[in-house]
Amino acid sequence: MIQAIRGTHDILPGEVERWQRLEVVAREVCRRYGYQEIRTPVIEQEELFAKGTGESTDIVQKEMYTFTDKGGEKVTLRPEVTPSIVRAFVEHTLDQKLPISKLYSMGPMFRYERPQKGRYRQFHQFDVEVFGIEAPSLDSEIIEMAAKFVAELEINDSELIINSVGCKNCRPAFSQALLAALDDKLPQLCADCRRRAETNPLRIFDCKVVADQSIIDGLPHTVDHLCPSCRDHFNEVKRGLEAYALDYQISHRLVRGIDYYMRTTFEILGKHLGAQDALLGGGRYDGLVKHLGGSDYAGIGYAAGLERLIMAMPEASGLINFPIVYVIAIGEVSSSPVQVLARDLRNAGLSAFIDYKVRSLRSQMKHADKIGATHVLIVGSNELERREVLLRNMATGDQEIITRDTIVDHLCKIESTLVNK
Ligand code: HAM
Repeated sequence: MIQAIRGTHDILPGEVERWQRLEVVAREVCRRYGYQEIRTPVIEQEELFAKGTGESTDIVQKEMYTFTDKGGEKVTLRPEVTPSIVRAFVEHTLDQKLPISKLYSMGPMFRYERPQKGRYRQFHQFDVEVFGIEAPSLDSEIIEMAAKFVAELEINDSELIINSVGCKNCRPAFSQALLAALDDKLPQLCADCRRRAETNPLRIFDCKVVADQSIIDGLPHTVDHLCPSCRDHFNEVKRGLEAYALDYQISHRLVRGIDYYMRTTFEILGKHLGAQDALLGGGRYDGLVKHLGGSDYAGIGYAAGLERLIMAMPEASGLINFPIVYVIAIGEVSSSPVQVLARDLRNAGLSAFIDYKVRSLRSQMKHADKIGATHVLIVGSNELERREVLLRNMATGDQEIITRDTIVDHLCKIESTLVNK
């Protein structure tokens, strides 16, 4: 039997309702905060991520699904969508076309990581990006929006962590301070860290190797090496979060595993998720738009992992029980009158089901119960002749005769009270 590829997963009926609710909440939060949707291809030129995500990141070094297509072009299944949105922003001169560049996107991402709980090779993100605004008050608004999104999903056991990773002015001095602090300890670190020390010392904070952690925990903090404007920016972001009465912790190791970040970084962690606990993460990336060929626009955003949000959402959320009307023909009645009746119910916005397996009334009633039908409509030859139907309420067992002409309206009235409950 052919099975799904390792690290990918099917989202089955019964589970998909939670995904639908998650997507509805995401879109609704975006509407309230003034974001417009953008959809970009899942496949891009490899160079976009090499340049955008960054050559020194684990994503580009080890995790990309890159292949040469039949035309000889090196292409990559997107490991994240931020570079794609920046590309689209530049390619379509959206700065001139949109009154305000606040964009969101949802869809699958691909990273060749070692699969484990909360970590997949194909996973889904809800991603938000804003271009052209440098003000630290946008940083606090975006963080507040992320926290609101998580709260709207009824995830109450989360934790907000923030940091500042400085800018191109203060970063070189910090990298020097890091290397100086490592000095004689560097040979004790893993091969990846030794490579990172050469390519981008800040990436040493991404290391997950257990034996390296005590050395890394003792390294200098970025926030102690910020230039005056980065320090002011960070203080302003913290003030904004305090004004929103949002609890946060400063996490000195939060440099995030991607090269484009500058100044603010943040994550929201799910407290009961285990090792892969980041529900969402993001930060500021002024300079990336220019780096990818656009004008010098500021940028900031975040992405949430939908699989992890689903895991953290309360068990019952998302299960909207839509009423179902089960329509049964009995005796000599052919299926066409019930088909027309079901069509009329559907046209009126109700969910109607017909069993085409030609089973007994008894087994159809059982089946109606199984699929959660709220009402059953029975049409026999007597009813058909008198233009009537027998309506049975599945919850109470009550039955009544209703005329064919009024049944649709009658059910619409009852069902609307059920939906609103
Ligand atoms: P990221 O931290 O790499 O950031 O990913 C964001 C979120 O995606 C993570 O917090 C996690 O919830 C989820 N995620 C990442 N990898 C996996 C995986 N293998 N399996 C399941 N979930 C995963 C970014 O992708 C940036 N583009 C965020 C951003 C947007 N920064 C600025 N704008």
